[in-house]
Order: sequence, then C-alpha cells, then structure tokens
Amino acid sequence: MRILALESSCDESAVAVLDSRTGLLAHELYSQIELHRAYGGVVPELASRDHVRRLLPLVRTALAAASTAPGDLQGVAYTAGPGLIGALLTGAALARSLAFAWGVPALGVHHLEGHLLAPLLEPDPPPFPHVALLVSGGHTLLIEVSAIGAYRLLGASRDDAAGEAFDKTAKLLGLPYPGGPQLAALARQGRAGAFSFPRPMLDRAGLEFSFSGLKTAVLQAVRGRSLSDQERADVARGVEDAIVDTLVGKSLRALEQTDRDVLVVSGGVSANRALRARLTEAVGARAARVYYPRIEFSTDNAAMIAVAGLARLQAGQHDSLAIAARAQWPLESLPSVG
Ligand code: KG4
Ligand code: ZN
Repeated sequence: MRILALESSCDESAVAVLDSRTGLLAHELYSQIELHRAYGGVVPELASRDHVRRLLPLVRTALAAASTAPGDLQGVAYTAGPGLIGALLTGAALARSLAFAWGVPALGVHHLEGHLLAPLLEPDPPPFPHVALLVSGGHTLLIEVSAIGAYRLLGASRDDAAGEAFDKTAKLLGLPYPGGPQLAALARQGRAGAFSFPRPMLDRAGLEFSFSGLKTAVLQAVRGRSLSDQERADVARGVEDAIVDTLVGKSLRALEQTDRDVLVVSGGVSANRALRARLTEAVGARAARVYYPRIEFSTDNAAMIAVAGLARLQAGQHDSLAIAARAQWPLESLPSVG
C-alpha cells in the first residue's frame, strides 16, 4: 500500500509519500518560522493562510520526488488533531478532497501518535512493548506503548510542557522564536552549576511533571540585572540541565515502574542533544535501550503522520466524507489497530 500524508497542525506545512514495501519515498517540509518570528510566537490565522498557500505545491513536489502518480496511491492520511484548529482544517480539507477526487480512503491521524511512531522509520526500529517519553511544544507525556494504537498514559505535565519551558525561558533571555533550539545552542557555552534551578517534581513520587515554576525561577534570576554574555549562557545551561535532569529522572522511574527495558523518546524536544546524551548514558547504565527518531523527524513532519496513517489504513480504518479536525483529542481514545 502506498499513501500520501499531510501535516499542518501548527507552523510546519509538510507532505510525505510512504510505501509499505519500499519505505519512505519522499518527504517535503516548509517551515513558517520566518513568518511568525516578528510576533515572537505562532499567530494562528497567519499559520492557516500560509498552509493554504504551501500545501498543494508541496503535494506536487512530494509526488514528483516519489515518482508517484495519484493512481499509484491507496490512501491519504492527514493530521486531524490536536493542534491549531484553523491550521488543522486546511490540511483536513485538502487531504479529504484529494482522497475523494482520487477515489481512495482518507484517514485523520492523531499528531502525537505520529510522534510516537516516528522512530519506526529508522533502520533499527524500537520493539514493542516500550515506554515512550513524548516531549513537544504542547505535551510532556510518559506513555506505556504495548502496540501501535495501544497507549496507556503513565504521567503528564500538570502545567507547561517541556518545550514550552524551553521557549518561555528563552524569551526571558531575549532569544528569538522558536526559543528551544536557540537556548540549547547558548547552553553549550554555559558553565554547569553557575545557576541552579529547581528540578520540579523530581523529588516527588509519581510520573507527573510541572515546569511552570522554572520560568518564575529564571525570571527572578535575571530580573533587574544586566547579564554578561557568559552569564546568559550560564542561565541557559542551568535551565537545560534542570529540564533534562527532570525528564531523565522520570523516564527511568517509568521504566522501573512498568518493568520495561525499552525507552522511546520523541517530539520536538527529543532533538535536544544534551537530553539525548544524558538519556543514552542513564538508560545504558541500567541495561535498557533507548530509541529516537532522526533529528529531522523529532520535530513536526509528515513522514511520521504517514507511518501512523499507513498502519491504520492497512488495518481498514478510514474516515467518513465529512471534513473534520479536533483541537483537543485524548490519545487514549484512539481505536486499536488490527
Ligand atoms: O514536536 P514539535 O516540533 O511541535 C509540537 O508538536 O509542539 O515541538 C516543538 C518544540 C518547541 O517547543 C521547540 O522549542 C522544541 O520542541 N525544540 C527544542 C529543540 N528543538 C525543538 N527544545 C530544546 N532543544 C532543542 N534542540
Ligand atoms: Zn509535534
């Protein structure tokens, strides 16, 4: 089975072609970062309008790159939620219409299921069952994954997501949007321990996270002071260390509690090099294994939507003719596959 997949849940327009026998044939992405930078964050209406402009040309480019004609496709998958509702609807409307015109089934994919399954695109994919740490701009989740479509929530953030904590503290340091990668780059010049920020909830039992206190702590450390370049880098390092420590500590605890020895880490924050280095070391030390998507599939992309879409379309799942998307969508409510 060969399918087309579209992603448009936030500020990335992306299209991919995936074949169940020959693998990923094409993946195209247009990032709206420049469009939103002047506003210091994503402006939903601008995002929707830009998806309308970008998606169809990306479909043409991806099909050409995959040497694929519409007649070669057996389905169209698209991100149906969660995300910005206007942005989601642009992708849903285009995907649903293309599938109708081509006479193939369409399927709305859960964006977080896409992130969870992104590592399946790698040459050495993670086995099931496993524990997943999903860290993105909107979510921080620990999930027990027994199979594709079988997800049990172990813990989540009570307030800000890990990516949000990176982005908000980056803003306090005067770094441009999107702050996460910028803060990580600055942290590389920082000295460990020069600034120490709280490791929220790490000392408490359970698998919940809380990151909102971190930005208050950073605000207190920087307010009314003119920091030297070195001090700004030190603050960035302190923030990154606090977030990474918390994520590593809770992930190890989740492996222990579920008695699993495979950890999967995905979502935008999984692109963070310090997190990868620390997790690889800590998980290796307890004779467990950790798997990641390649860096370009850690952040939003359509290849991951294609993986989730293909699994479900192959199992015979598809949507009605109605164009629909959901801003909120609990992962655990997804039907099982197969
Ligand atoms: O998964 P994603 O691309 O979009 C959502 O579904 O939210 O994640 C975006 C988040 C942003 O908060 C961004 O700052 C963060 O991932 N991020 C990073 C890095 N790359 C992206 N955070 C820390 N270090 C990075 N290298
Ligand atoms: Zn995402």
